[in-house]
Amino acid sequence: MQKKQELYAGKAKSVFLTDDADRLVLHFRNDTTAFDGEKKAQLERKGAINNRFNAFIMTRLAEHGIETHFEKLLGPNESVVKRLTMFPVECVVRNIAAGSICKRLGIQEGIDLNPPTFEFFLKNDALHDPMINEYHIRAFGWAADAEVARMKELTFKVNDVLKRLFMAAGLLLVDYKLEFGAFHGRVLLGDEFTPDGCRLWDSNTRKKLDKDRFRQGLGGVVEAYEEVAQRLGVDLSGI
Ligand code: TMP
Ligand code: ASP
Repeated sequence: MQKKQELYAGKAKSVFLTDDADRLVLHFRNDTTAFDGEKKAQLERKGAINNRFNAFIMTRLAEHGIETHFEKLLGPNESVVKRLTMFPVECVVRNIAAGSICKRLGIQEGIDLNPPTFEFFLKNDALHDPMINEYHIRAFGWAADAEVARMKELTFKVNDVLKRLFMAAGLLLVDYKLEFGAFHGRVLLGDEFTPDGCRLWDSNTRKKLDKDRFRQGLGGVVEAYEEVAQRLGVDLSGI
């Protein structure tokens, strides 16, 4: 398989075409952004750590029957993935209140959410990723009803698998964002699962070990990602 020209550059990843119409190369960059791209920085080694982190998580999910776009690691910052037709929505599950739900509903950070909540957001930085519901997805044709149902089902299945995985590493999975796409009629998990798109707290101290360290200017961002990876047993050799 041969890497070809860049198809698209997101805020933290670039996507390249390949000589296979069904395959893409994902390149994880060191660029780190928050607040819909308003705050930006280059964090040394973050791209390589996130590439390995994502490969590890996607592999665990596949072992639990969750189909993902991930195929294999290609280089320090790159992975081969299936080319999906992405739905322009973000699926967020929250186990503990943090971030936008606290602001929006006046909820205290750290409260357990029982049952976990599910929210859809529109993937649109210019509009600041507004919250949407299934009626909007239907009315604007962003995904079919069966695809919406599958995205919700898979997002909760990911929660069952990852809550346990992180718990065993002494971490609380506070919340996370997933993106899905269609591949030959099936709904697959796409994008990434890294500390850039979830919240992880130390189970005992509740120390933040995710992108909130960057958003809130707490420092030690890459060190926190590395600590989480090490606790999970992600292979970071050579990084
Ligand atoms: P929120 O609290 O800002 O709504 O985010 C909830 C979780 O989803 C948090 O772990 C960050 C992640 N997320 C993203 O990574 N990108 C996004 O565009 C959104 C809306 C959420
Ligand atoms: N909306 C995401 C965040 O605040 C990503 C970004 O803004 O770059 O984490």
